[in-house]
Amino acid sequence: MTGLLHVAWPPAPIKTERLVLRESEARDRAAFIELFASPEVGTYVGGARPRDELERVVPEVPGRRPGFFVIDLDGAMIGMITLDRRAAERRGHVRPDAGEAELGYMFLPEAWGCGYAAEACAAALDWFADALPGEPVVLCAQNANDRAMRLAAKLGFTEVERFEEYGAEQWFGVWSSATPSG
Ligand SMILES: CC(C)(COP(=O)(O)OP(=O)(O)OC[C@H]1O[C@@H](n2cnc3c(N)ncnc32)[C@H](O)[C@@H]1OP(=O)(O)O)[C@@H](O)C(=O)NCCC(=O)NCCS
Repeated sequence: MTGLLHVAWPPAPIKTERLVLRESEARDRAAFIELFASPEVGTYVGGARPRDELERVVPEVPGRRPGFFVIDLDGAMIGMITLDRRAAERRGHVRPDAGEAELGYMFLPEAWGCGYAAEACAAALDWFADALPGEPVVLCAQNANDRAMRLAAKLGFTEVERFEEYGAEQWFGVWSSATPSG
């Protein structure tokens, strides 16, 4: 089970040059279903889920928890960013007591290739550095997930180790506000 961040939540919506990071709302539900039903999105994150199943199981307001940002472009959701505690039983840790904050990101394919994910993740990491100063953030992505790997590098994550999980080679990296990459 993934743990929650203990932070004041929700923050006021965070504005970047082109985007807003905000809490999830009922009007985002259709975009969540698009995201989880997309074979392109699911390629390296466990696959797409059947749309009829999603229509049944996705709650009225999906993803309402501390550390869960909807990314909004001109009033519509284009993706999501999560900061959750990495479960102790997972492989990949940088602290002896585990439970590190872990960054996750998923965007709708039509929003790829515009730098939106990089812009939004940088703002989420800024928010995190203010909320929990000095705490590291970890990230795990399949090696084969070129886009996710390029984004991790751009954000300043550095490799800790590589290992096998879910039948694929994983890249595990860390970011810290204490050592900005520039
Ligand atoms: C991972 C993911 C979020 C990356 O999305 P992305 O759009 O490639 O990421 P970025 O925001 O960093 O955008 C980078 C691209 O935008 C381009 N770009 C265009 N305009 C730009 C601008 N103004 N600023 C920055 N980059 C810009 C860059 O050149 C780059 O293109 P390239 O990949 O062709 O070189 C997306 O592929 C995704 O949702 N994948 C499915 C879910 C997933 O696998 N998540 C990761 C789990 S660990």
